[in-house]
Amino acid sequence: MSKWRDLMICAALAAGVSGPVWSGPYFLGRPAEPDEIAAWNHEVQPDGTGLPLGQGAVEDGDVLFGERCAACHGDFAEGVGNWPTLSGGIGTLGDEDPVKTVGSYWPYLSTAWDFIHRSKPYGNAQTLEVDEVYSLVAFLLYSSDLVEDDFVLSHENFLDVKMPNANGFVVDDRAATEYPRFSGPPCMRDCRAPVKITKRATDLDLTPEMMVATKELDLLAQGEKVFAKCKACHQVGEGARDRVGPALNGIVGADAARADFFYSDGMRAAAKAGLVWDHTELAAYLANPKAYLPGTRMNFSGLGSQADIEAVIAFLASQKG
Ligand code: HEC
Ligand code: HEC
Repeated sequence: MSKWRDLMICAALAAGVSGPVWSGPYFLGRPAEPDEIAAWNHEVQPDGTGLPLGQGAVEDGDVLFGERCAACHGDFAEGVGNWPTLSGGIGTLGDEDPVKTVGSYWPYLSTAWDFIHRSKPYGNAQTLEVDEVYSLVAFLLYSSDLVEDDFVLSHENFLDVKMPNANGFVVDDRAATEYPRFSGPPCMRDCRAPVKITKRATDLDLTPEMMVATKELDLLAQGEKVFAKCKACHQVGEGARDRVGPALNGIVGADAARADFFYSDGMRAAAKAGLVWDHTELAAYLANPKAYLPGTRMNFSGLGSQADIEAVIAFLASQKG
């Protein structure tokens, strides 16, 4: 990094001395020359561009890997602890938990060469010689069973290595295929002809009974959850007894104040006037007990959600007892 900065400064100074070549928004420096860029550019491309002359054997890579990489990646590139596995995994990409390695996943060997050359070993980047990088890449191929143990990788046979996942990637063509579809002015009204309902699924008897049954079960389960709010005062089910509030078995459809319970005067009066706990009355009572029945002794602020009310009524209806 500091070398790079020095080069910039040198270039800037050189340009300043030699004449009016200041450029860019700050009138500083000059465009870098191709050979200057080449001296800094490590990039190795899939077609082999940028690959320096050299070679390295699996055997040498094996030794070097043990010295410089195994602490994190394991002697056999199998990965230590949470450090990445670099070997094997071929054929696992379709699995729920695929093992993605250079051999199983990377489409181009050049990426492995470039990455190792540029950034390895971790924490000590760019300390590897060209031939060492070749041997390490050869060793990784070997550790994924892609070459034999006497294999020597070089700039000459580099492009001959077949990567198993070479065709596993698609070129991102969304700019050409999708962007035009979404980049026009958006439709804001009458974008679609009105939908006409011609038949109903239930008329056609298309709703499978299983689905209906599952929906009912969901509702009951939801209702049971809601009933947790009532449990402090009410019991249902076998052996249910009156507590702070009366037992609620069979309450849906029953006469109000049917139990031998210390009801409020308001509740008794409503019962005398013929109140029956049908769906409508229950829903209204549970939504806001005090507003529905002034003077009620049910000290409960009510259920805020219509869905909860429906669910708890369904649950109560299932508690016959
Ligand atoms: C100090 C621990 C450490 C050492 C030593 C080390 N690596 Fe790594 N390596 C990592 C970590 C962490 C990653 C993942 C993060 C990253 O990409 O930098 C990684 C990633 C990689 C990957 C990419 C894996 C993938 O599929 O994404 C390769 C290839 C690799 N290392 C090769 C090497 C080689 C070759 C050496 C020895 C020259 C080496 N590493 C030394 C820690 C280490
Ligand atoms: C803090 C205690 C308490 C909570 C919580 C409570 N209730 Fe009540 N409930 C009562 C009492 C007390 C009564 C009697 C009301 C009266 O006499 O005015 C009552 C009455 C009722 C009645 C009429 C019973 C009858 O015999 O006529 C129903 C139905 C009812 N509650 C349902 C519920 C449901 C469902 C919930 C939960 C969503 C609930 N209550 C929460 C205390 C409570």
